Amino acid sequence: MSEKKKFYITTPIYYPSDKLHIGHAYCTVATDAMARYKRLCGYDVMFLTGTDEHGQKIEDKAKAAGVSPKEYVDNIVEGPQGVKDLWKLMNISNDRFIRTTDDYHVAAIQKIFKKMYEKGDIYKGKYVGKYCKPCESFWTESQLVDGKCPDCGREVQDAEEEAYFFRLSKYADRVQDLLENTDFLEPRSRVNEMVNNFIKPGLEDLCVSRTSFQWGVPVDFDPGHVVYVWIDALFNYTTALGFMNDKYDDFKKYWPADVHFIGKEIVRFHSIIWPAMLMSMEMPLPKKVFGHGWLLLDGGKMSKSKGNVVDPYLLAQRYGVDSLRYFLLREFPFGTDGNFSNETLIGRINTDLANDLGNLVSRTTAMVGKYFGNNLPAGCGATEDEKDLANMLAQSRGSVDLAANFPEDDPRKFDVELIALAAGLRNTYEDKMEQYAFQDALMEVFKLIGRANKYIDENKPWALAKDEAQQDRLAHVLYNLLECVRISAVLLTPFMPETCEKIFAQIGAGDSQRTWESAAVWGALSTDAQVSKGENLFPRIDAAKELEELAALEEAAKAEAAAKAEPEYITIDDFAKVKFVTAKVLACEAVKKSKKLLRFTLDCGEGQTRQILSGIHEYYEPEDLVGKTVVACVNLAPRKMMGLESNGMLISAVKEGAEGHEELHLLMLDDKVPAGCTLG
Ligand code: MSP
Repeated sequence: MSEKKKFYITTPIYYPSDKLHIGHAYCTVATDAMARYKRLCGYDVMFLTGTDEHGQKIEDKAKAAGVSPKEYVDNIVEGPQGVKDLWKLMNISNDRFIRTTDDYHVAAIQKIFKKMYEKGDIYKGKYVGKYCKPCESFWTESQLVDGKCPDCGREVQDAEEEAYFFRLSKYADRVQDLLENTDFLEPRSRVNEMVNNFIKPGLEDLCVSRTSFQWGVPVDFDPGHVVYVWIDALFNYTTALGFMNDKYDDFKKYWPADVHFIGKEIVRFHSIIWPAMLMSMEMPLPKKVFGHGWLLLDGGKMSKSKGNVVDPYLLAQRYGVDSLRYFLLREFPFGTDGNFSNETLIGRINTDLANDLGNLVSRTTAMVGKYFGNNLPAGCGATEDEKDLANMLAQSRGSVDLAANFPEDDPRKFDVELIALAAGLRNTYEDKMEQYAFQDALMEVFKLIGRANKYIDENKPWALAKDEAQQDRLAHVLYNLLECVRISAVLLTPFMPETCEKIFAQIGAGDSQRTWESAAVWGALSTDAQVSKGENLFPRIDAAKELEELAALEEAAKAEAAAKAEPEYITIDDFAKVKFVTAKVLACEAVKKSKKLLRFTLDCGEGQTRQILSGIHEYYEPEDLVGKTVVACVNLAPRKMMGLESNGMLISAVKEGAEGHEELHLLMLDDKVPAGCTLG
C-alpha cells in the first residue's frame, strides 16, 4: 500500500496577553478549513497551533495583575474562555498544541541558540540605545516619545547593553532570491513590500537576546540573557515536531511545512528572519508562507484598548459556530483586509445560509417526505447516460452546453445542466482551495446550490405530484436534488463540519457517500436512502431587531472596557501645561436667556478681574457663590458663550450619571487661601 501524502500546516502561535477576538479566530478557522480539506482529500495532515508565552509584555501584565508570568499565561491559555476553549468552541481540529513555556521547547531553543552561536552566526555585541534610570528600561531611539522615556516622560541617557546578534545581513542575498524567484511568499504583492522596505535598504544584524527582563528562554551559557521572543516563537514550528527534543518524533515525517498561515503584520518575521535562521541551521525551508489580511472594524484594527473587539463567544452563541466560520471565509478574500460588521454578518447568514442552502435542504427533504414517505422508489436514481456524462465532465474540467441538445420543452435539459455543474464542481473547488482562495471555492459550491434551487422552480415538483403519470419524473427530480445537496455538503464539510453532518443525516448519506471521491461521482447516493427532514439548519434572523440588540450589547461592552481600561498616562510636562489658580468670586449672576450659565467675575491675583462662564446654574444660585474661594484653570483658550467671553474654566467635582451629571460640587477651598495661588 502506498504511503499517504503528508501535509503540514500551521497557524501563528498566539500571544496570551489578552482574550482573543474574532480577528484571531480568522486565521485559525482558515487553517482549520484547509487542514480538514486536505484530510478529506486523503492526506496525512499535521495541523499545529499554540501560544507564544514569553516576553516583556507578558512579564509586565503579570506584574500588574499581581501573579507570576506562568500563572498569568496559564489562565489565558487553559482557563475559562481561554485560547484552548476558544478553539474548542470554533471546532478547530488541530493535531497538536504547543506552548512555548513547555519544557521540551525551552530546552530545544537553548540548543538551537547555542548551535547558531557555535557556528558563528550568533555573536556577542553591544546594543546601543537609551536608558531611563528611574524605570531601569532600555529604549531604542524610535521608541522614545518627544525624546523622553515613553513610560515616565523623564530624560533618558545614552546607554549600551551587552547583547547577542544574529548575522541576518549574511543571508540577505539568499533571502532576496527566495522571495523574488520562488513562490515562497504569497500573495505576491507582499514580496515587493518585503524586498523594497526591508532588504534593499540593507538588512542589519538582529539583536537576539535581552537582559532587561527575565521572562524568556535563558541563554544557558550566559546567565542574565534571555532569547529574543521571535527566535523562541518561530522555532515552535519545528520543536513541536520533535526537533532537538525527545517529546515528539515527527520532524522527519512532516518537515518542511507545506504552509504557514500568518497575518500580514508578521510577514517580515516569517519571510525574512525565519528563512535566514533556517539557512543558518542548514534546515529545509517551509514550502510557503501565506500572509492573509486583517479583519477590520470600522476601517481600523480590532483592539482591546479601543473596546471594539468582537467577541466570538457572543457571535457563536447567537448565530452558531458554522455560520461564523462560513462568514469569515466567504465574506473576505483571504489575502486582503476586510471590514467586519454585524450587518454583513447577518446579511450573509440570511442570504446564503438561510435562503439558499437551508431552503434547498429543507424543501428537498420535505418533498421526499411528503410525496414518497421519506424513501424514494427504486429506479429513480442516475441513469447510465447521466453517470457517463458526469464522469466525462469530471475528467475533462471543461464546460459544455449540453442543454442545447434538447428541445425547448424537454425537461431533461434541466437535468443535464444541473448534472454538468455538479460533476465539474469538485475540480473547480479543488483548484480554488489549492490557491487558498476560500471565498472563490465557496462561491463555486453556492453556484450549484443556487442552480438546484432554480431546478426546483423549473420542474415544479408540486405540479408533478398531482399527475399520476409523472411519479417517476417526480422521484428522479427529487433524487437529483438530493445528489446536489450531497455533493455540496461534502465540499462544505471543511467549512461547516457540524452542519454538513446534519445534512448527511437528513438525506441519508452513508460514509462512502461523504468522501472526496464521491464528490466527483454523480449517482453515488443510493435510492433507498432514508431521508428525514430535520431541524431548520439556519433560522432566518430578523436583521433590524438583531442589530438593535447587538448595538445595545456593544454599548454595554464598551462601557465595561472603558471602566477596566488601563489609564492613559500623560507626562509631567503635559500636566505642567495646565495652569490652575485659586480665585475669589467677586460677583456672580445668571446669564440672560441661558438656563445653565452663570457669569463669574473673579480675582485670580492677576491685578485685574477675570470673567469665566460656567454651566452650573442647575446646582447653585449665583448669590450663594459670591465671596467663595474657588479653583480656576486660567490658560484655556478663551471662547464665547451666549455672546460673552469666557477666559478659563471653574473646576467642579462631578459624579457622572446615566444622562449627565448626577451630582456636581463646585470645588471650594478654605476662605483663608488667598487668590492667585497656583495648584500643582
Ligand atoms: N505571537 C505572534 C506570532 C508568532 S508566530 C511564530 C503573534 N501573536 S498574536 O496573537 O498577536 O497574533 C496572532 C495572529 O492573529 C497573527 O497572525 C495576527 O495577524 C492575527 N490577527 C490578530 N488580529 C487580527 C485581525 N483583526 N484580523 C486578522 N488577523 C489578526 O503575532
